[in-house]
Amino acid sequence: MPHSPRLEGSSLYLRGLDHVDASKAYSDWLNNPQVNRYLETRHEKQSIQSIKNFITDKNKSKNEYLFGIFLKLHNKHIGNIKLGPIRKQHKLAEISLFIGETSEWGKGYATEAINIITNHAFNDMKMNKLVASMYAEIKISTRAFISAGWKEEAILKDHYLFNGKPMDLIIVGITAQQYYKNSPEKNPV
Ligand SMILES: CC(C)(COP(=O)(O)OP(=O)(O)OC[C@H]1O[C@@H](n2cnc3c(N)ncnc32)[C@H](O)[C@@H]1OP(=O)(O)O)[C@@H](O)C(=O)NCCC(=O)NCCS
Repeated sequence: MPHSPRLEGSSLYLRGLDHVDASKAYSDWLNNPQVNRYLETRHEKQSIQSIKNFITDKNKSKNEYLFGIFLKLHNKHIGNIKLGPIRKQHKLAEISLFIGETSEWGKGYATEAINIITNHAFNDMKMNKLVASMYAEIKISTRAFISAGWKEEAILKDHYLFNGKPMDLIIVGITAQQYYKNSPEKNPV
């Protein structure tokens, strides 16, 4: 059973995933070179069964929360966002996401999903800091985080190999202090 709560945005909602969500469309996203170009999942071919295993694993995890990203209109599943791993002692969590439906790219959905998860992480889970990382080449992903109020914090030089060539990794983050400074109406930790 998913343990991630349902979270509401304006065009989207996020909710935990179950085996019924492991659709052919979902495995097609992960095997689409346009979508998986910068995802670590690209290193192995994905199937409905491997997705079910992933969902089971995340639903059992005590420090990771997997959410599907759904359009409110027609309840269409368009991608995923994950909060975790969480390092509880530091109230520190990683965020990662993808929008698998390429026809839904460029509509602000990544930015909205990041905003929803950021609100949840600080207001409900009382995190102190969130971080995310991405290949330097994928500027759109960095921009989605920046638009959601995050900041670029670091560049790890030649950190990963991309098609055999070294590529920088960009680290973006947001602290509770920065978050509450931008949203003074919210209650701090
Ligand atoms: C990267 C990704 C998450 C972006 O999702 P999205 O819903 O298309 O992003 P948004 O519509 O919220 O746009 C984010 C920013 O990129 C800009 N942008 C979106 N599409 C763009 C395009 N084709 N060209 C230039 N800028 C673009 C938006 O204007 C916005 O920037 P702004 O706020 O400064 O205006 C999505 O393309 C994706 O999942 N790609 C494949 C998987 C992946 O690489 N995931 C990220 C791993 S870190």
